[in-house]
Amino acid sequence: MTLPSHAPRGVVEPGRLFVDQHGAVAQLHGVGIQRYDGVFWAWGEDKTHGGTFGGVACYSSPDLATWTSHGHALAVDETVPDLAPGRVVERPKVLRNPAGTYVMLLHVESADYSLARVGWAVADRPQGPYTYVRSERPLGNLSRDIGVFDDDDGTGYLLSEDRDHGLHVYRLSPDYLAVEEIVSTTLTRPGDHPVGPHGYESPTMIKADGLYYLFGSDLTGWSTNDNQYATATSPSGPWSQWRDVAPPGSATYDSQVSVVVPVRGSETTSYVYAGDRWDSRDLYHSAPVWLPVQVQDGRAELVWRDRWTLDPVTGEIA
Ligand code: GAL
Repeated sequence: MTLPSHAPRGVVEPGRLFVDQHGAVAQLHGVGIQRYDGVFWAWGEDKTHGGTFGGVACYSSPDLATWTSHGHALAVDETVPDLAPGRVVERPKVLRNPAGTYVMLLHVESADYSLARVGWAVADRPQGPYTYVRSERPLGNLSRDIGVFDDDDGTGYLLSEDRDHGLHVYRLSPDYLAVEEIVSTTLTRPGDHPVGPHGYESPTMIKADGLYYLFGSDLTGWSTNDNQYATATSPSGPWSQWRDVAPPGSATYDSQVSVVVPVRGSETTSYVYAGDRWDSRDLYHSAPVWLPVQVQDGRAELVWRDRWTLDPVTGEIA
């Protein structure tokens, strides 16, 4: 088997692994990313145990390309049923609430994916350690892949895949520790699933020039598909039709969106797509496919680059 080799530190090479300061493969799978005080913080699924929970790994970076490991922000814990060995915990996403607490939201699962809950954990610093709080089905709905978003006014949102009804945007309570209400629900493009479940999954949202962009992938498990985005002038919608974010047929350059990160600099605001090229036989070595996204006038377009670097001060990508 040929493993994707790793890129030199400081450079992003889509399809090649990142390594940390020790030369270990960075476990940035299903990643959530935030920038606090100029530092990028990332929380990823540690796939040491394949599909079952191996901990939430935490990393920091000045430029999204040079990664320092901070160990596990949330570890396997046999005394907590949701975090026990053999369980599935995916897509860790962190928001800092208006009171300054770091709130981690997670997809909490059983090994057969029938549990479909969202979990919460809290910490007083980005790298944790996080204290587990609880899990639930938000407002009774299935919740598998998740994303999070906090708006300029401090309102927090949970984005959550519920194949019975569609992708929900939930408004969170002011402390982000509970779900308050569904503000919008989007459905798969007409014709995509005439009778089947409703997409999309692996959702993430950004706001650019006052317009909200919601990204997601179709429901194809570890296999990649043509990921889509929709736009609206409010998280409450109405959302536009879904459109391809990459050339159709490329399966989003063989990747699945995990998060789109705004990088605000002195010269420009750039947007970075962080996606996964899952290898279901060797999840640990699944390669990151991270690329710039051009976001303008209601359009979002993933731009292929063999390699790129980010200037974290100016926000420019070269
Ligand atoms: C995908 C999902 C991944 C993982 C996988 C398991 O649909 O995006 O996070 O849950 O299914 O098959």
